Amino acid sequence: MPTSIPPPPPCLAAAPERPARRAPGPLRIGGVELASPVLVAPMVGITDAPFRRLAREMGAGLVSAEMAAAEAVVRRIPRTLELLTFDPEVTPAAAQLVGNDPAVMAEAAAICAERGASVVDVNLGCPVPRVTARGSGAALARDVTATWRVVRAMVDAVGVPVTAKMRLGWDNASINAPELSRALQDAGCAMVTVHGRTRVQRYLGRADWAEIARVKRAVGIPVVGSGDVTDPSEVRRRVLAGEVDGVVVARGALGNLWLIRQASHEVATGEPLPDLGFAERIALTRRHLDLLIDHYGERRALIVGRKYVAWAIRGCGGAARLRAMVQSLATRADLDSLLGLALAAGPGPQGWYAPVFTSGDG
Ligand SMILES: Cc1cc2nc3c(=O)[nH]c(=O)nc-3n(C[C@H](O)[C@H](O)[C@H](O)COP(=O)(O)O)c2cc1C
Repeated sequence: MPTSIPPPPPCLAAAPERPARRAPGPLRIGGVELASPVLVAPMVGITDAPFRRLAREMGAGLVSAEMAAAEAVVRRIPRTLELLTFDPEVTPAAAQLVGNDPAVMAEAAAICAERGASVVDVNLGCPVPRVTARGSGAALARDVTATWRVVRAMVDAVGVPVTAKMRLGWDNASINAPELSRALQDAGCAMVTVHGRTRVQRYLGRADWAEIARVKRAVGIPVVGSGDVTDPSEVRRRVLAGEVDGVVVARGALGNLWLIRQASHEVATGEPLPDLGFAERIALTRRHLDLLIDHYGERRALIVGRKYVAWAIRGCGGAARLRAMVQSLATRADLDSLLGLALAAGPGPQGWYAPVFTSGDG
């Protein structure tokens, strides 16, 4: 842990923009090389160890645990530490911390690294009032100097790369992602992820990828874009055009982890990969539930996994009747019989259902 708080950054706001160019090779976060520039977002309530394993199997370049409060990490609260359980086979994997005290964030970062995180990320985008009211998440990002101090303290405390995930700014009148990214680069940050919305927008409206590209032109470290990633061809175009070094898949992967494989494949080969057929999607859900059962045990897994089953069967013929059964799933046998009924029913006339979230906790 650092013994003193480092000085504030030099004024970097006037640094010139660089021309965008295609990254010459694989995406690297400090010394960590990624097999794909398609990353999976941290998502509260979603990106647990089984989800991360499946996302890695789908070819994600980096998977991430959901945000964890640095103070709870330092106090070693069991529920928080459980979020930071890293499987050595599922790598590289990032931990994400939320907080604003440099010393606490540094100590928490060291704990994450000890627990096996390959990268430690700082949450600078969480919009929820219980976080922003404490000066963390998107509220911390408003103060470039305070954020610089947090990141510098973390960089000094750990041997693994430190990264940051931010929004464009607090609102349209206070876009500061380019300036903030330059300051964090100066603090030793190895990559920034930019969610192309403001805090005020939360999860509404379209993400602004032109603003994300402006951040890319402002810094030399890798810049990864987040927001509305659902189209593999668009992912490839953005990466090849040098608008970003990679993308983060978030809501687009809910109920459809195959999107990660499609995007990774298309970026690597230029060839589109077809959507999964109905039976294959049911099989993927089955695999997800098996991983949940291995990790949590049958009882808890079937509670955690209900949302995935509900998303999977929502597009089936007769879905309303099947959905009612999801709430009473209690055993693996219940799950088998429900997925069997879904397979027998086949896809409904409206095709596959994609879950639509208008909000997220992070
Ligand atoms: C359910 C949910 C939980 C989220 N949790 C986090 C989180 O823990 N940390 C974080 O930085 N972002 C979090 N986010 C934001 C996503 O990482 C992503 O930046 C955002 O959803 C925009 O991408 P999208 O439009 O493709 O969904 C969350 C989003 C959702 C939908």
